[in-house]
Amino acid sequence: MYFELSEEQLMIRQAARDFAQTELKPGVIERDEHQKFPAEQVKMMGELGFLGMMVSPQYGGSGMDAISYVLVMEELSKIDASASVVVSVNNSLVCYGVEKYANEAQKQKYLIPLAKGEVIGAFCLSEPEAGSDATAQATTAIDMGDHYLLNGTKNWITNGGTASIYLVMAQTDASKRHRGINALIVEKGMEGFTVGAKENKMGIRGSDTHSLHFTDVKVPKENRIGEEGFGFKFAMNTLEGGRIGIAAQALGIASGAYELALAYSQERKAFGKTLADLQAIQFKLADMATEIEASRLLCLKAAWLKDNGLPYAQASSMAKLYASQTAMKTTIEAVQIHGGYGFVKEYHVERLMRDAKITQIYEGTSEIQRIVISREVLK
Ligand code: CAA
Repeated sequence: MYFELSEEQLMIRQAARDFAQTELKPGVIERDEHQKFPAEQVKMMGELGFLGMMVSPQYGGSGMDAISYVLVMEELSKIDASASVVVSVNNSLVCYGVEKYANEAQKQKYLIPLAKGEVIGAFCLSEPEAGSDATAQATTAIDMGDHYLLNGTKNWITNGGTASIYLVMAQTDASKRHRGINALIVEKGMEGFTVGAKENKMGIRGSDTHSLHFTDVKVPKENRIGEEGFGFKFAMNTLEGGRIGIAAQALGIASGAYELALAYSQERKAFGKTLADLQAIQFKLADMATEIEASRLLCLKAAWLKDNGLPYAQASSMAKLYASQTAMKTTIEAVQIHGGYGFVKEYHVERLMRDAKITQIYEGTSEIQRIVISREVLK
């Protein structure tokens, strides 16, 4: 068992670290405050190849492994989780699903611009009444012969306003329940498709989250991914990889907060010593470092399994469950170590604490991860 990263992996990690410091850090507080999407930075990430990291070069991607993806997600998320979620959704939920399951014509038309970062994508599963219970899709895609007639509403869609390509799960034959769901590629601009108001969120406020409305949208049959009724399996399988990305995002939020707390504890003096000289603070730092390292190993293990073609559903859910708990716990402690400074925006940790919470909710709540893990261990 090797724990060493390859030269290429170290280089991509350094590139992400440098990009986060030079391009994401300036302006991150302002973007959070004003809910401003990091459009320029997303464009640059496309140019750096971060938006289609794992896509084969044949389709415009960077052809990297999932381990590199974890490394990049951690570095970006240390600084700006609103930017990193774009990387995660575009890579894992959109590009991966299209590359793995779409046909050649669909890949030529949609995957290439997505992987190059010329456009970004969104994954549309959640609905007002279908969050954790994803089988309860109320959005309908009625078979009209050469097209589907799409009607319904999707909620909390990441990249909802800025995406150009949307993978939409919808019910075609309710009598077949989840086996009657289809995954359709919907383009922005299709008649009857409108983007709802932007959500005013607690965290990842720079990320662009919207509801989407579909009223008699005619989606050509050739835009269905896979066989008729494959949509639910498509969504579940895609989410398995997505959870590695969100686990790595949580890891980055935790390690970003830890690094700030570590530095602050060595500068700040109290009772004639630095905070780091106090055992109460040392023990906090020790716990934070240990839990972050355990999260990192879980993320890398899940990525390694994926890279080696081995089953990774349990590993990705374990990584997401543990790393998101760690993100929450670590960011709360980082605020505590900063005292009053931690409660104000300039010190970054309060934003990281707010950003951490979503990692326990999206791409399956912590309870959903426990369902996936317990089913695997009880098999
Ligand atoms: N891969 C392929 N197929 C899978 C699968 C997987 N990982 N998991 C389940 N399936 C299949 C099953 O084999 C089954 O198919 P058959 O009946 O044909 O055998 C079918 O899917 C239904 O499976 P279950 O009976 O296990 O379904 P369930 O309803 O009991 O539970 C669940 C499934 C795990 C709870 C699932 O509903 C789930 O993951 N829910 C959470 C949804 C979620 O993560 N939403 C996040 C929204 S996306 C998002 O947040 C993106 C963003 O913007 C950042």
